[in-house]
Amino acid sequence: MTPEISVSVRNLSIRFGDFTAVDSISFSVEKGEIFGFLGANGAGKTTTIRALCGLLSPTAGEIRVAGASPDNPLELKARIGYMSQRFTLYPDLTVSENLAFAGALRKMTPEKTQTRSAELLEFTGFDFDINRLVRELPGGARQQVALAASVLHDPQVIFLDEPTAGVSAQARTQFWKLIRKLAERGKTVFVTTHYMDEAEECGRIALMSAGRIIALDTPSNLEASAFPGPFYEAIAPDGLDLAAETLRRGAGKAEASGLKWRVEISDEAAWEKLAADLRLEAHRVKPTLEDVFLKLAGGKR
Ligand SMILES: Nc1ncnc2c1ncn2[C@@H]1O[C@H](COP(=O)(O)OP(=O)(O)OP(=O)(O)O)[C@@H](O)[C@H]1O
Ligand SMILES: [Mg+2]
Repeated sequence: MTPEISVSVRNLSIRFGDFTAVDSISFSVEKGEIFGFLGANGAGKTTTIRALCGLLSPTAGEIRVAGASPDNPLELKARIGYMSQRFTLYPDLTVSENLAFAGALRKMTPEKTQTRSAELLEFTGFDFDINRLVRELPGGARQQVALAASVLHDPQVIFLDEPTAGVSAQARTQFWKLIRKLAERGKTVFVTTHYMDEAEECGRIALMSAGRIIALDTPSNLEASAFPGPFYEAIAPDGLDLAAETLRRGAGKAEASGLKWRVEISDEAAWEKLAADLRLEAHRVKPTLEDVFLKLAGGKR
């Protein structure tokens, strides 16, 4: 069976004046997929999402989302949910008022809004009084309400723009359980994040840099293709510039990562000699998406 395509983008470009924010990108996302968008600040992630949601007109290119085109905004908007990067709820309204407002915007009846809200708050694990003001809730609980509000009308495709920015680690884990549950129910989830552990949870990832998609694949394929050879983590003595040393000896390429070094080996014998000479504490590891990102996007995060 050929997979059903939920989002398709061809040669999409978005310019603001003479600045190109999105530069001829193409990709497609299958129904039920969790598709991640990764890239440094200003890479063009939010701009792409805004175009996919019909909120800004592309300079060039073709877009289809859940079978609808941005030329037909009503149809498009009925089929998508959007949780924007900035806070999407009214902090001075209660949880139930926020949901009632979201339902009204979607032209849902108050009864339908109420049943869906109750279902969704349960689905998200929301555990507070719905008559509390949103501003009194912890970040994680607000994001649960924001998610409920964005899927109130049961959209097929859900755009989540940094949904877990600034929430606790525990709330992030909880939120990703919800994302997986939505995908298991056949919803297509398009998500951006700056957290590499979250990116590992995506089915596929598009790595964006300066308006272009520089790599697109599953996390493990990205890791394997960016680093086909051996990869090590090493602790070097204080003050030793391992990057310069590995380069000088032709052993590979080292990048500092906190107090440790991540080393892509190009010559194993040279590396082993270097590690012995300098008494490095080194062991072979699997590269992570963080390593891929550093290599492909030049460290800009
Ligand atoms: N309306 C606009 N007018 C002019 N420039 C804009 C506009 N919207 C976005 N930009 C610029 O386009 C570029 C891409 O911005 P965008 O918000 O899409 O980045 P992003 O990848 O979402 O970054 P972040 O990780 O910080 O959210 C940035 O340089 C931004 O300043
Ligand atoms: Mg953004």
